[in-house]
Amino acid sequence: MFTLIAEDIRTVKERDPAAMSTLSVLLNYPGLHAIWWHRVNHWLWKHGRRGFSRWLSQEVRFMTGVEIHPGATVGRRFFIDHGMGVVIGETSVIKDDVTIYQGVTLGGTGKERGKRHPTLEDCVVVGVGAAVLGDITVGAGSRVGGGAVVVREVPPNCTVVGIPGRVVVREGERVEAVDLHHEDLPDPVIEMFQVIQRRVDRLEARLAQDEGWAREQGDSSLFAAPEDSSSDFGVSSSSDDGASASCDIG
Ligand SMILES: CC(C)(COP(=O)(O)OP(=O)(O)OC[C@H]1O[C@@H](n2cnc3c(N)ncnc32)[C@H](O)[C@@H]1OP(=O)(O)O)[C@@H](O)C(=O)NCCC(=O)NCCS
Repeated sequence: MFTLIAEDIRTVKERDPAAMSTLSVLLNYPGLHAIWWHRVNHWLWKHGRRGFSRWLSQEVRFMTGVEIHPGATVGRRFFIDHGMGVVIGETSVIKDDVTIYQGVTLGGTGKERGKRHPTLEDCVVVGVGAAVLGDITVGAGSRVGGGAVVVREVPPNCTVVGIPGRVVVREGERVEAVDLHHEDLPDPVIEMFQVIQRRVDRLEARLAQDEGWAREQGDSSLFAAPEDSSSDFGVSSSSDDGASASCDIG
């Protein structure tokens, strides 16, 4: 137990440049106090004292501003910087060397039962105010940007930002950003007409070729127009230009 406590204090000193001395860490880090209380609570939870551990976790939240459900599994060298507003759900799994900042939520989406909270692999960092929701895994070494809302799996060694969270850096390489130039968005209707026009042009060329061939063979009846092709629909069938004129939208 004392080894764990010494390790936790060392962790704070390593990850927070503002940590001056062991005494200041002991006095001024509510995130650290919350983790220590969580270890007690988790033990109680696993030994059948669920009601009591739930109540105690709420008292700890009152004192530290950090709410960790007693059922959550927390690894070693976990660091909660500042702490206020952190919420960690019951089935969350936090592996070793994870860092989270104030206002982080590891929550459910409200739809599932059973394992419904995220798993943070080793060395994950979750920035201020971010929410990681649902039974998803944030891969080892990944970073979640401040304010992000992550609802899908994150591969290892990625940086995720935004709402919904998207990967912007993977294995140290920039991932191409989403093009947000709305004025340049493609128009699917125009694109569809252009495709149809190209097909009509091809068919007309093919028809003209076949008609030429039929004339050469001396059999013009093969491509003779019906006697009154307009009668069914009341539309003239004579115009060669009609098809292309009606689709000529550039
Ligand atoms: C995401 C973060 C980890 C930086 O990661 P990084 O791999 O160094 O990424 P970069 O700084 O190169 O940024 C990559 C892109 O994401 C954008 N970005 C960075 N952080 C962002 C955030 N929180 N939200 C939205 N976009 C963000 C950058 O503007 C950049 O966009 P661009 O490619 O269009 O220029 C960091 O910005 C962050 O949010 N850290 C949280 C720290 C924290 O919570 N501190 C609290 C102290 S009390």
